[in-house]
Amino acid sequence: MALRIIRKDKDAVLRLKAAPVRKFNAQLAVLLDDMAETMEVAAGAGLAAPQIGISRRIIVFRGEDGVMELVNPEFILRQGESVELEGCLSCPGIYGEVARPLLVRVKGYDRLGNPLELEGEGFMARVLEHEIDHLDGILFIDKALRLFTDEELQKIYKDV
Ligand code: NI
Repeated sequence: MALRIIRKDKDAVLRLKAAPVRKFNAQLAVLLDDMAETMEVAAGAGLAAPQIGISRRIIVFRGEDGVMELVNPEFILRQGESVELEGCLSCPGIYGEVARPLLVRVKGYDRLGNPLELEGEGFMARVLEHEIDHLDGILFIDKALRLFTDEELQKIYKDV
């Protein structure tokens, strides 16, 4: 496994619409392992392939049972709404309040090409939508109702 460099800010690859994965081969498996390791080391809740410069529809995220992966993910359900603060490994030092669904159901494939379906609630629904947005070139700063710098965030929480 190898650590990959996380693309940031104005890197053009973050703004591309990623292409679907067509071949579930050994190269895909290596990519998924590297994404998992890169996410773990960066202490992220999720990571999308464009964030390491690969414009393909692949995400990894922290699930209840460890790192989970989804290839060619698609929503089948998005329900409810909650506004919470979030950030992104590709946008260091910026946080924003973003409205996300409370419940999502997503279908996709595992690394071998087997179809799978999963449900996410609350924080997990937020992470799933955030990561799938990356596959369409959308960053949380585009959707944020309010943005905060690190410094502003410290002020907000100064009395805690
Ligand atoms: Ni992100």
